[in-house]
Amino acid sequence: MPTLTTNYLGLELKNPIIVASSGLTDSIEKIKELEANGAGAIVLKSLFEEEIVMEMEEQMHAMTNRPYVYPETFDYMEEEPHEDILRKYLRLIEDAKAAVSIPIIASINCVSAQKWIYFSQEIEKAGADALEINLFVLPTDMHRTGDENEHIYFDVLTTVKKQIALPVALKISPYHSNLANVIKRLDDMKVDGIVMFNRFYSPDINIDTLNVTSGQVLSNSDDYKNSLRWVGIMSDRINCSLAGTTGIHTSESIIKQILAGADAVQLASVLYKNGPGYIDILTKEIYSWMEEHGFESIQDFKGKICQSKSNDPAAYERVQFMKNFRNFIMH
Ligand SMILES: Cc1cc2nc3c(=O)[nH]c(=O)nc-3n(C[C@H](O)[C@H](O)[C@H](O)COP(=O)(O)O)c2cc1C
Repeated sequence: MPTLTTNYLGLELKNPIIVASSGLTDSIEKIKELEANGAGAIVLKSLFEEEIVMEMEEQMHAMTNRPYVYPETFDYMEEEPHEDILRKYLRLIEDAKAAVSIPIIASINCVSAQKWIYFSQEIEKAGADALEINLFVLPTDMHRTGDENEHIYFDVLTTVKKQIALPVALKISPYHSNLANVIKRLDDMKVDGIVMFNRFYSPDINIDTLNVTSGQVLSNSDDYKNSLRWVGIMSDRINCSLAGTTGIHTSESIIKQILAGADAVQLASVLYKNGPGYIDILTKEIYSWMEEHGFESIQDFKGKICQSKSNDPAAYERVQFMKNFRNFIMH
């Protein structure tokens, strides 16, 4: 009888399917339903410090009836609304821990150094099993170097890790000047896990109205390949846990991620499209595939086709369509 258990961030998961941070995980009812359908773990919707600040601003506008609020005005404002949003988040952690037995991973995105410290300490006290740091700096400042930008990630990680004993994962983007080096340095700093890669809101342009609009919110089923490449390249070169995310829509793409060396995967879009019941279908399909191939456990095939163990290691680093595609014809 194959078993789907896996270890992620030092936590035992009954299967490698984690529901990614999103609106799918923002209430206790949804979390219970996800567990009932077989989710291995949950990453709660991120708590955004910026959102709290925006809410404070809205309240100030309402109170002063002015379009602009001077930053100093906030000095006079009570911490009340700020605390309120945080308290609700902490209550969600406490309720989720009481209601389900699968691991609950909190997620935060902060702007100020104090809040990274304060929020993570409070989250640990509320009983979360781990913390995922959701941090991304869009490198648009022409006067900053890649190294300066990357230090923001390193500083936040070391600051948070100093404050709490919980396992800490960092959800990263692929946009770094030297991605392998960044991942290696995070691993050296004892990050407990890396989630690769976050998918971001992106703008689009409407050519009829000539307006900037919102790009497609959900991923496509072919989008998993960039994370597959990097999981495959890095998995046996670092010690921390790895979770693949973005574009993982089928049991086949989950199995590929594990073959490349992922300990777990994080899904959002496909669950928005198909509902929580799809988790049960995915786990059954993985189970059947393992039976068919004689694998007793996830460990039996995890990393079996990472770059160093594959029959064609160069394929992981191939980026140009060279001679193999010279005769490519689209029918
Ligand atoms: C509607 C929506 C809301 C999301 N909210 C968050 C969030 O609050 N924090 C976060 O780290 N990621 C968030 N994400 C990103 C997902 O966690 C996930 O990493 C990304 O969507 C890629 O996975 P997918 O291809 O399965 O959707 C969100 C994604 C979607 C579609």
